[in-house]
Amino acid sequence: MKKIVITGVAGFIGYHLTKKLLAAGNIVIGIDNLSPYYDVRLKEARLEELLTYPGFTFYLNDICEIDVLVKDFPDVTHVVHLAAQAGVRYCAEKPFEYVHSNLKGQVHVLEACRQWKSLQHFIYASSSSVYGGNLKQPFSVQDPVDKPLSLYAATKRSAELMGYAYWHGFGIPCTGLRFFTVYGPWGRPDMAIFQFLKAMKEGKELTVYNGGDMWRSFTYIDDVIDGVMACIDLKPDQQYQLFNLGGATCHSVCEVIELLEELTGLQAKKHFEPYLVMDVPRTVADLTESLDQLGFTPKVSLKEGLGRFIRWYDTFYG
Ligand SMILES: NC(=O)c1ccc[n+]([C@@H]2O[C@H](COP(=O)([O-])OP(=O)(O)OC[C@H]3O[C@@H](n4cnc5c(N)ncnc54)[C@H](O)[C@@H]3O)[C@@H](O)[C@H]2O)c1
Repeated sequence: MKKIVITGVAGFIGYHLTKKLLAAGNIVIGIDNLSPYYDVRLKEARLEELLTYPGFTFYLNDICEIDVLVKDFPDVTHVVHLAAQAGVRYCAEKPFEYVHSNLKGQVHVLEACRQWKSLQHFIYASSSSVYGGNLKQPFSVQDPVDKPLSLYAATKRSAELMGYAYWHGFGIPCTGLRFFTVYGPWGRPDMAIFQFLKAMKEGKELTVYNGGDMWRSFTYIDDVIDGVMACIDLKPDQQYQLFNLGGATCHSVCEVIELLEELTGLQAKKHFEPYLVMDVPRTVADLTESLDQLGFTPKVSLKEGLGRFIRWYDTFYG
């Protein structure tokens, strides 16, 4: 049995991961500040479900206050650090939220890890956005990543470098996971798939950038959780590692809209906006290392995953 701290536990990925870990009989200590970046009621609904498990303890705290957990739980075995200010476009509005949660927050979590003498593995969320404007595709963890297109990407890359420094300086076994556009039930309302479906259901216009000629390795949430679970079980051998967790195939935003139309029987009203310079035009994941070391093989097709997302949306929002 593991004793695992999960930051960002009320978030999309944190909720799914925690549920899986609790169902497997682990103890999870979750921390989240329930940031108002998107609808807090969705975060509360996720938490409500997690709190039905006896193995779950929740702390309504900022990660910059993670010290409370060190004091209360001295025997933590794993930390999965998911809390962050997410989203690429919001950088233009609230840059200091990214500095607070993604830079300062990362140091606070790493400092807590230094204090947990029982800690076996520190795992944290990075992002495909670190590949920035790289022209070489698919994106490999071996590629240089020094041209972020947004402040979000820059903070995620910085968090990777901080992880490296703490691994090097203090021997903290450390693994970064670069997630590629995760979607599915309980997903984030600020992301395109959620926004498209919501607009279609409400008969409103969808905002489509660059004529829908934006490409992503969309990754279904259950596939991502399988990858994170495999990483938790990995014996890190004191290495510093990075893995891509991305979908096996790359799809355009146009394809997503067509599939949503087919699956809902609704017609999308598209409103076109020009290409946003902060957005990576195309993300394609090279999964070589993830397959070799985590056995990571995404199984859920985009059509199947969108169908499951629509069914959840209809149940949750009535
Ligand atoms: N979902 C994706 O497609 C995707 C892609 C790449 C990377 N990521 C990364 O994965 C992680 C999880 O993403 P998600 O989609 O679940 O996002 P999310 O926004 O749903 O979850 C993040 C959670 O962290 C909490 N949080 C934010 N700042 C905090 C702080 N200072 N203190 C405590 N809690 C704080 C939020 O309240 C939220 O519940 C993030 O680090 C994100 O950057 C996600």
